[in-house]
Amino acid sequence: MLNFSFANSTRIHFGEGQIKAIAKEIPTDAKVLLLYGGGSIKSNGIYDQLTAVLVNHSVVEFSGIEPNPSYETLMKAQPLITEHQVDYILAVGGGSVIDGAKFIAAAACYEGDDPWDIIAKGQRIKAALSIGAVLTLPATGSESNTGSVVTRDGHKGAFASQHVRPKFAVLDPTVTLSLSDRQIGNGVVDAFVHTVEQYLTYSVNAKVQDRFAEGLLETLIEEGPKALTPATKNDIAVRANIMWAASLALNGLIGAGVPQDWTTHMIGHELTAAHGIDHARTLSIMLPAVLKIRREVKRDKLLQYAARVWAIDTTDEEAAIDKAIAATEGFFIAMGMPIRLADIKLGQEHIDTLLNNLVQHGMVKLGEQGAVTPEISRQILETAL
Ligand code: NZQ
Ligand code: ZN
Repeated sequence: MLNFSFANSTRIHFGEGQIKAIAKEIPTDAKVLLLYGGGSIKSNGIYDQLTAVLVNHSVVEFSGIEPNPSYETLMKAQPLITEHQVDYILAVGGGSVIDGAKFIAAAACYEGDDPWDIIAKGQRIKAALSIGAVLTLPATGSESNTGSVVTRDGHKGAFASQHVRPKFAVLDPTVTLSLSDRQIGNGVVDAFVHTVEQYLTYSVNAKVQDRFAEGLLETLIEEGPKALTPATKNDIAVRANIMWAASLALNGLIGAGVPQDWTTHMIGHELTAAHGIDHARTLSIMLPAVLKIRREVKRDKLLQYAARVWAIDTTDEEAAIDKAIAATEGFFIAMGMPIRLADIKLGQEHIDTLLNNLVQHGMVKLGEQGAVTPEISRQILETAL
């Protein structure tokens, strides 16, 4: 196992009705910015619940945070923060709103000229406004991690800081009942790929992390399709298991002390930035191709994945790896996801631009050992055609 330091300070309030915990989490003398997206919280009743819970707080609102939040939209919140002396942001939504809250919270305290430098130049931040989250879409883990992804001018860039980790997060699985099948599929597959990218690398004899990761993968494989099946899709137990699995998939726990390979995400971000593809749909296309091209360096872990996660029982190693990759693709298809670039109407003619963008964004040494060069990324993209 590799050395690591681990802390996750986000207090999780999990279960039906936990939204009321917000009243005690946010100090009553705080000036709160209620942040949300395109309005799903108004149609599904979360907004009304929040209004009742925050009756003793001073609240201003900023809405319209779009999926894959843009720098331009997020910067529009800054005058409101100054005017109302906001010191606490309550983010209510999926990864986009919570990531947006993190950038807004950091930008509000940033002492340099342009807050975009936090992402473009990797400027470390020294402070941020406090953040609380009400998660409405289980997927990214953003509700209890330090990461944020923001887009500007075709660059989907990320930053991470302990200063923006939410102080608390409300995870009420009943609020996920209003999700479309498309967003359920996206969420389950995003969480699945987060787990794989911290697991399917090379072995460092990290038995606990491996078995946690396998448990999360098996849970998502079991419960994910139930959330799309009419007879079981409104079962709160199904939603609860998915919600907790997605949160644990990227809260730092399974990634502590193990190598990580974010190639699928980094190539996927370019697909979203250039073509507007939903985040998770880029992953369901890229992951199988990454596994195919990187099967030799990942061999031992692929065999472990085949045996333990997919119960593939054969002594033929090549067949076991082929079957594990095929099973992964089958799972993505069952979740309603595309698995090839052709499924989203992209082809060979788009690859040069995607590669140029990867290079421009410094993504030239990807993978668990920095060995994925642009040439290997090209092979991966061509395998995904
Ligand atoms: O905007 P509203 O109206 O709320 O609608 C949203 C949005 O259209 C809708 N939605 C959310 N909860 C709902 C709901 N609709 C009905 N009922 C509900 N309960 O879903 C749509 C998508 O929401 P979004 O927040 O964009 O989805 P997701 O949670 O998948 O977040 C994706 C973003 O997170 C980033 C991605 O890059 C992308 O920008 N990521 C963040 C990570 C992190 N912070 O650690 C890691 C991830 O790998 C990922 O990169
Ligand atoms: Zn993701």
